[in-house]
Amino acid sequence: MKPENFRDLMRLVHGFESAKILLVANDLGLFRVLDRERGAVDVAGELGVDTRALELLMNALTALGLLEKGGDGYRNAPVAAQYLADDSYRGHIFRHIHHCWDSWNDLAGVIRRGGPDLVRESVILHDEEAWNRDFIRGMDDVTRELAPQVVSGLDLAGARRLLDVGGGPGTYARAFLAAYPQLTEVTIFDLPFALAVARERLEGYSRRDDVRLLAGDFHKDAFGDGFDAIWISQVLHSQSEAGCRTLLAKAVQALVPGGRLFVHEFLLDDSHAAPLTAALFAVHMLVMTAGGRAYGGSEVAGWLEEAGLVDIEVRKVSDDTGVVQGRKP
Ligand SMILES: C[S@@+](CC[C@H](N)C(=O)[O-])C[C@H]1O[C@@H](n2cnc3c(N)ncnc32)[C@H](O)[C@@H]1O
Repeated sequence: MKPENFRDLMRLVHGFESAKILLVANDLGLFRVLDRERGAVDVAGELGVDTRALELLMNALTALGLLEKGGDGYRNAPVAAQYLADDSYRGHIFRHIHHCWDSWNDLAGVIRRGGPDLVRESVILHDEEAWNRDFIRGMDDVTRELAPQVVSGLDLAGARRLLDVGGGPGTYARAFLAAYPQLTEVTIFDLPFALAVARERLEGYSRRDDVRLLAGDFHKDAFGDGFDAIWISQVLHSQSEAGCRTLLAKAVQALVPGGRLFVHEFLLDDSHAAPLTAALFAVHMLVMTAGGRAYGGSEVAGWLEEAGLVDIEVRKVSDDTGVVQGRKP
């Protein structure tokens, strides 16, 4: 909702407090121990934190609708029980968002310099196992319900071999195999740390043998060839414009004639100032990457044309995202 008065502005600015309270509670594992009503002293003892401080935090969480407060203490409200406690936990994405907090804290510096402090960034991105794990598990948290919805509208008639570039935890790979049973192989190409998560998430999956995990860095390693379809979801935004064009040209090379390339992103409209999710995400990429941002549907369509594809289309596929697709002649 667009702010219209001073109160709205105050609400907008205070938003960070609610976010921080939820992120810290999630990091503490608070929701995981509040499956039943418990007093502050008891919970503080288990978590090893200060009782008075925890009580203030839990009161705020109650006011936010994440906890319920009864005569004997606090317990999870239904939404916290559903997503933040042990069963079907989806808090990895919140841990990932919290990991990005320091980079956002430097937004003023980023605006002055034009980009993040890369030395610090490379340490965060490449040396911290927890950072990487929460990032990839977080992708699964976000796409578990979205992926089946997004892939169901694609035309994969006749496709047998699909390449998922930056396929992360394998959530899209499974959604493709479920929606298009004629696929005989889905290859997930990703960095080794991401494939470690995919391997874990695919354990016991009935079509595990149809998923191939190909470790590599798309800046330097080959995709192979002979793919009928290529899916590149939420990857371009981490690359510069030149990086996107190089990656797309490389993907087109790996397609068979008649094969289709699908790019899935938070797509900006031609103003580049809407929709809100994409415009905010552009700033997220500004603080987190060297040269990434959100891109417009027409920009991506132009790159597909430049890479030699035909029948190019831009389509909205969810509330926040769109697909740009094209066919190799
Ligand atoms: C934002 S996630 C998107 C994951 C998934 N495609 C989705 O839509 O949920 C970006 C993915 O690209 C992968 N990635 C980033 N840089 C890469 C590189 N240089 N080579 C291969 N994969 C890369 C990441 O490991 C991650 O799995």
